[in-house]
Amino acid sequence: MRHLTDPTDLTRKETDDIVALALDIIANREKYSEVCKGKKLATLFYEPSTRTRLSFTAAMMELGGNVLGFSDANSSSVSKGETVEDTVRVVGCFADIIAMRHHIEGAPLAATNVSRVPIINAGDGSHAHPTQTLTDLLTITRELGHLDNLTIGFCGDLRFGRTVHSLIKALARYENVKIVLIAPDELRLPDYIKHDICDKNGMEYCEVTSIEEVMDELDILYMTRVQKERFLDEEEFDRVKDCFVLDAEKMALAKEKMAVLHPLPRVNEILKEVDADPRAAYFRQVENGKFVRMALICRLLEWVNDDSKQNKGHDVVENDDLACPNRKCICNCENVEKKFHLAEGGVYRCLYCDTKAK
Ligand code: NCD
Repeated sequence: MRHLTDPTDLTRKETDDIVALALDIIANREKYSEVCKGKKLATLFYEPSTRTRLSFTAAMMELGGNVLGFSDANSSSVSKGETVEDTVRVVGCFADIIAMRHHIEGAPLAATNVSRVPIINAGDGSHAHPTQTLTDLLTITRELGHLDNLTIGFCGDLRFGRTVHSLIKALARYENVKIVLIAPDELRLPDYIKHDICDKNGMEYCEVTSIEEVMDELDILYMTRVQKERFLDEEEFDRVKDCFVLDAEKMALAKEKMAVLHPLPRVNEILKEVDADPRAAYFRQVENGKFVRMALICRLLEWVNDDSKQNKGHDVVENDDLACPNRKCICNCENVEKKFHLAEGGVYRCLYCDTKAK
C-alpha cells in the first residue's frame, strides 16, 4: 500500500505518470466514469477548505465512487478528544481511501502509522500540500508544455506557504529549473528547503524583494496569500499583509508566453484586473486540481495490494535523545511514535514536520 503525505513519496517517474493520466482523463472523460464504482473516499478536514475538499469530492464522484467525511472537526469525535490515529482506524472501516487536511504538521503522516487504507495529505499546517503540487505540475504542463527549463518566481508568503514548499520539492527533480524567491524578510523560504532541497539537487535560486526586477525573466509567477492563520503575532501579520500586489502594470513587464498561478484563495495579492489577462491561469488551475486528484485516487487504489515501499529516500531513526521543538507538530500534540531522519549536513530532522531536532 502507498500513501501520499509528501511530494517525494512519489518518484519523478510516478509523478509524471499521474500528470499523464490526468491528461488522458481530460481527453477521455467517459472512459473513467466508473473506474471507482463501489469505492468510498473519506475526506477528513480539520481545517477550512473550499477547493481542495470539493475537488476531492468531485474527483471521486466523476470516477463513479462515493464520498463521506467531515469538514468541521467539531462535529466529529475529535471534539471529544479522539486522536488522529484512532479516527483513522475507525474511518478505515468505512472508506477505501482517506484525504486528510490538518492544522497540525505531520498529522497525515502519523495517520499512516496505523491506517489500513491509503492516506492522502490534503495540507498539514505550513508543512506540505502534495496534491496542490500535482495540480500545479499539471497546470504548468498544460500552460507551457514542459516542466524542465523553467524560471519560476514564488511570491508572497514563502515561510508559511505549504504549497510553495511542496512545489519546490517536486520541481527540484526536473532539469534546469531556476527559482526566484520574492518575499519580504519576515516571509522568506525556510532554510531547510534552500539547503536540503535546492542546494542538494543543484537547483539554482535567488532571493529578491520586488516583482518588477525579475518579471521579464519568469515563465511562471506563483503568487501566494499571506497565511494569516499561521502568525502568532498579529502586528507582524499587519506589517507584511500587503507586501506584494500583482496588477496590470506589472503584467505588462512579463513575457508574452508565461503563466500566473495561485493556489487560491486570493485576498488582495492579485487585483481583479489581472483576471482577464490570458496569462492568468489560476482559475484553470482549480479545474486541473480535480483531474489530477482523479488520477491520484486511481493510482493509489491500484497500488493497495502493491508491497513496494514508499519512496521516502531516507532512513528512519528512532532515538530517545532527540526531540522535535515544533509545538505545532503532531509528535508534540498527540502520543505518536517519535521519528527522525538524517538530513543534509548530518542534521537530524523530525520525520513528521522536517524541523531540526534538538
Ligand atoms: C492553499 C492551502 O490551503 O494551503 N489553498 C489550497 O489548498 N488551494 C493556499 C492557501 O490557503 O493560501
